[in-house]
Amino acid sequence: MPLSFFSERIEAAIADAVGMTQSGMPPAQLTSAVQYAAAPGGARIRPTILLSVAMACGDDQPAVTNAAGAALELIHCASLVHDDMPCFDDADMRRGKPTVHLAYSEPLALLTGDSLIVLAFDVLSRQSPDRALPLIRHLATRTGTPFGICAGQGWESESEINLSAYHRAKTGALFIAATQMGAIAAGQDPEPWEELGARIGEAFQVADDLRDALYDEVELGKPVGQDEIHNRPNAVTELGVDGAVSRLKDILGGAISSIPSCPGEASLAKMVQATAKKLIPSSKLNRVPGE
Ligand code: IPE
Ligand code: IPE
Ligand code: MG
Ligand code: MG
Repeated sequence: MPLSFFSERIEAAIADAVGMTQSGMPPAQLTSAVQYAAAPGGARIRPTILLSVAMACGDDQPAVTNAAGAALELIHCASLVHDDMPCFDDADMRRGKPTVHLAYSEPLALLTGDSLIVLAFDVLSRQSPDRALPLIRHLATRTGTPFGICAGQGWESESEINLSAYHRAKTGALFIAATQMGAIAAGQDPEPWEELGARIGEAFQVADDLRDALYDEVELGKPVGQDEIHNRPNAVTELGVDGAVSRLKDILGGAISSIPSCPGEASLAKMVQATAKKLIPSSKLNRVPGE
């Protein structure tokens, strides 16, 4: 299945969801800011994983899968809007565009994040209760505290950071949501899918650290060198580029072997590999001396 298939399906699902805020509906600036924050531009990696798992499990109710993918990406978009605000990372660029608080205002950025979170749960609540309810519960767990992205961001206010709890909550949580919600959307037990999500999340964190070191702001579409500025530990500073690349390969190998048995196991493994390649293209790694 080509990645473009996923991307068309995901963009349509997000556009449907954001259409629920009804273009031009007052208050017009908030409606516009919500659409700006959810517009195409990101990698959409979380819904891509969610759809891949759902398809590997049979995807018997595609409308539920689409809603789940959109809801998950909306939560991610909300987290980015809040993360960029001056009270967090004070970033000026996201996905190659000015951040929401600069393009609109700080109050509107706060409300945009809030609105996207509510919209995500609204989208799920419109599906049949047998699947909507567990989807809502899993997404809530991975969004809030103590196991979700709120907890992850919360760690940054502690005097001492438990690095693995911090990364697992900040980054891993939405990848666990991706694999488990993909299984639920296809009517399967989410339990066996937690490990795959956690491992992909761990790999993604290392890839993110590598991108922070190997890319510039224009290529990445957001500020680089953030971990250093905020004095946060990072796989590249700890292991070096070569060490981080081999760690990434190890984690990915483990992720692929943790795929639960399901009808589409082989194509899911290919999908995980293709997605990983998109994160750090080999051309980028080849430019690094010693690679
Ligand atoms: C960025 O996520 C935030 C992290 C958890 C590191 P992505 O790298 O998936 O951002 P987009 O969605 O592609 O912009
Ligand atoms: C953002 O993390 C993660 C969440 C918003 C949950 P970072 O601050 O590390 O990511 P970037 O570099 O801004 O994308
Ligand atoms: Mg941050
Ligand atoms: Mg940030």
